[in-house]
Amino acid sequence: MQKILLITGWLWYIGSHAVVQFEQAGYKTVILDSLINSTREVLVNIEKILWYAPDFYEWDIWDEELLKTVFWKYNFEWVIHFAWLKAVGESCEFPSLYHRNNISWSIVLFEQMEKYKIRNVVFSSSATVYDSDNQLPFREDAKLWTTNPYGTTKLVLEYLLKDYSDHKNWKVLLLRYFNPIWAHESWYIWENPQWIPNNLLPYVFKVASGELESINVFWDDYQTKDGSWIRDYVDVVDLAEAHVSAYKKIETSETQLYKAINIGTSCWTSVFELIQWVEEVIWRELPKKIVWRRTWDIGEVYANVDFAFEYLGWKAKRSIHESLKNGWRFINKKAS
Ligand code: UD1
Repeated sequence: MQKILLITGWLWYIGSHAVVQFEQAGYKTVILDSLINSTREVLVNIEKILWYAPDFYEWDIWDEELLKTVFWKYNFEWVIHFAWLKAVGESCEFPSLYHRNNISWSIVLFEQMEKYKIRNVVFSSSATVYDSDNQLPFREDAKLWTTNPYGTTKLVLEYLLKDYSDHKNWKVLLLRYFNPIWAHESWYIWENPQWIPNNLLPYVFKVASGELESINVFWDDYQTKDGSWIRDYVDVVDLAEAHVSAYKKIETSETQLYKAINIGTSCWTSVFELIQWVEEVIWRELPKKIVWRRTWDIGEVYANVDFAFEYLGWKAKRSIHESLKNGWRFINKKAS
């Protein structure tokens, strides 16, 4: 019988890629999304890739009745819990918005899951839960600490899930994403914020396509290889595939489970390098200016990914250069 899984949120980016990967791997997905960060066009585009539309419910996170109805209607095996707000700067400005949106309703979701004995969950966590003083590359057993309310909500949810795992025998895998970039090879779904992007790559592409004037580099005098900060960029399709591997792992494990797994590449790329690689793809220099850092920014972040390979057999396959080339071809195709 086909296994059914519930996908909560983030339809506009990682969630949509996960839907496609799971459907193509033979699972049935049911999507709940409030559409605050997304549009129905994403659903139309998912349909273009799959040739059918997955079940979708537009749902306000406070609508407990709809959540109950959906749990009653489907015989879910698992939940992939994506739904959250994710703009770090916004979370510093409105901490309670993040606490309410990311934590409070998750508690309601977990209650429903326990009620229906759905005890398998892949949770989208983040590299932001690591203390920046840890030795690089970050390992899963490194010290945890957060510098912003968004990160705090991730960490709190990791702990709440631990309680369910310890006391209710849930099987929980926490995927700690590093910096997801780019889009599906079909060029139908991708990260295309309708607003001015917070994240580096969408911003750089908007400058490259002329929609924004110049790139703000958040300072150039750090103790790093070229003075700019370092991140570990991972292709979003690789990331979506990691979810499928995580679920296969959960399916085959008999007992209670609680593990955190880094999802990155272990490659460390500076802000200047990423911009330069985009410039190489588009064959021209982009306007940029150096501005002071964001208050919540932390310096160097990249992953040790040994455990992902050892435990899930997962490794990122797509190179950052490939993702960038693909990205630019996609933008040109859309523009033409
Ligand atoms: C942060 C969080 C990450 C979260 C993501 C969601 C940390 C360590 N990471 O990612 O967990 O999922 O936000 O949005 O808190 N930069 C510029 N100019 C720009 C934009 C960014 O120079 O216009 C630099 C940043 O200083 C950073 C790098 O580019 O060094 C990447 O920034 P960004 O894409 O915003 O992601 P993070 O801040 O790493």
